[in-house]
Amino acid sequence: MDFDQNLGELQRKVSQSQEGIGRRKTIFEALAVESGQSILDLGCGGGYQVRSLALAVGSEGRVVGVDPSLKQIEVAREYCSDLDNVEFTQDSGTDLSFQDGTFDSVTSTNVLDYIVDVDSVVAELRRVLRRGGRFCTISILWDHHRFHGADPALNNRILHVFRDHCPHQMLPLGLPKILLNNGFAGITSTPIPILNMTMHNNAFARWTSKTIAAFAIKNGMSEDEVALWLRQIEEADRNGNFGFVSMSVLTTGVAI
Ligand SMILES: C[S@@+](CC[C@H](N)C(=O)[O-])C[C@H]1O[C@@H](n2cnc3c(N)ncnc32)[C@H](O)[C@@H]1O
Repeated sequence: MDFDQNLGELQRKVSQSQEGIGRRKTIFEALAVESGQSILDLGCGGGYQVRSLALAVGSEGRVVGVDPSLKQIEVAREYCSDLDNVEFTQDSGTDLSFQDGTFDSVTSTNVLDYIVDVDSVVAELRRVLRRGGRFCTISILWDHHRFHGADPALNNRILHVFRDHCPHQMLPLGLPKILLNNGFAGITSTPIPILNMTMHNNAFARWTSKTIAAFAIKNGMSEDEVALWLRQIEEADRNGNFGFVSMSVLTTGVAI
């Protein structure tokens, strides 16, 4: 998925939603941040997690955000422009330009799902992490990322088209083994359920529905069909039979 264009803008809305904030808090707590630490956020997007981590590690620490999308990096730089302990690099997780053992912790939110060769990226994240350092990541079980309330056939079709937006539909199930094979121990998997029963203006569901709609049009569905799906879920919302259910998973490990 191309995060440089309007899909990137919608992604940042998803990230800033009430549930997006909740997921960042879960990661933040799992990282057990201390003043003075150096932390890497891979696929930092608009820099929202970088900002909260930078405020926590303070002036003795440093937080680095890496993202291959120039637009994401520009937005993140602007968002954190008042902080002097942050750095942003336009880079990919497959080839990081940091020395071995540079960071106390590494994190990423909804990024590994988008990378074909997750194994190489996990190896690279292990390389830049010090021994004993923490790795905390969130990815989504996309097979369980479902809207309810629209015509079932149309709903299934649009969700099926959306499967192509990333290469891994069920990454959290395979991630523990990938971590074990790349020098991590103490691996945990914690479910983070999201349930929206209304689509208020800061709901994860609202901005995810718009992301799915934009992606579906770019990938061959007609504008009319997609508009109909959006109208149907909005109508379901008004009629009290709307639902959006998604399951994220926090996966953690310690570098050995
Ligand atoms: C769904 S967004 C999540 C952004 C941010 N972590 C958040 O939660 O708001 C996925 C991000 O991963 C980035 N990304 C895609 N491929 C990447 C790669 N190979 N290395 C690092 N980041 C990547 C994208 O540019 C995008 O900003």
